[in-house]
Amino acid sequence: MGNVYLNGRFLPLEDAKISVLDRGFTFGDGVYEVFLVYKRKIFRLKEHLERLERSLAGIYMKNPRTREGWTQILMDLVKDNPADDQSLYLQITRGVSERDHAIALAIEPTIFAMSKPLPKRNLVQGINAITCEDIRWKFCDIKAITLLPSVILRHQAIQEGATEAILYKGDTITEGAASNVFIVSHGVVKTPPKSSSILPGITRDLIVELLQEAGIPCKENNITRKELMQADEIWITSSTWEIVPVIKLDDSLVGDGQPGKLWHKAMDIYQKFKASQD
Ligand code: PDD
Repeated sequence: MGNVYLNGRFLPLEDAKISVLDRGFTFGDGVYEVFLVYKRKIFRLKEHLERLERSLAGIYMKNPRTREGWTQILMDLVKDNPADDQSLYLQITRGVSERDHAIALAIEPTIFAMSKPLPKRNLVQGINAITCEDIRWKFCDIKAITLLPSVILRHQAIQEGATEAILYKGDTITEGAASNVFIVSHGVVKTPPKSSSILPGITRDLIVELLQEAGIPCKENNITRKELMQADEIWITSSTWEIVPVIKLDDSLVGDGQPGKLWHKAMDIYQKFKASQD
């Protein structure tokens, strides 16, 4: 791992220190982004920066950098890391203040970013998932660092031998603990519409766009718990995981328990799109 970025400086991780009164530490008061880097290029950079702007506005924070400013920081980290494929993490907290809920007290935001080589994933054979009640808050469209419910939900999934928790609110599917959800039902791909109940995933948006362009029926529609249970295919998407087939949900196989036909197609289209970004 190369240097990390903290408040205007590039320095070794072990030298990157912040105050214990940072509001990220005391309140979870901040937002973040995770960007993927393929062949040393940041994938969907503009889309991630746009979402970052919306997240900052959503927590009443002024954006401390321009798009060019963010790009420069991120590109410098990419350059400093020898790996061609990387995962970039950017976190902005409201900064340091005495411990008081009032946000006006914080003056300078804390900006932290780091890059690590993209871990080798091998989830293409499919994962198990469990369904859980969505115990999170009402502003899930903000990419907030306050992730305790997601951490607990992911832990419950892992304890049950699964990789991800798929969440429901009442009868409606929202998303995964750290991913978006797609189903295939009678040849039609469906994913929940954007709302404050889900994070508008950059991967999700791209898949919807690519499938529609390829003439594969893809709808942004609410998905009920019953539809999820009866789906022919279930996919989980995120920048880090790309598109992962769910082959077992709770105690039942999804379809025939193998990655589905449309998943193979979607994966192929997605990989071709990535390769075309050179
Ligand atoms: N999480 N929904 C939630 C709740 C997420 O945390 C994520 C990603 C997504 C997928 O978004 P995208 O396609 O833009 O990565 C959906 C990141 C990877 C994380 O927290 O590490």
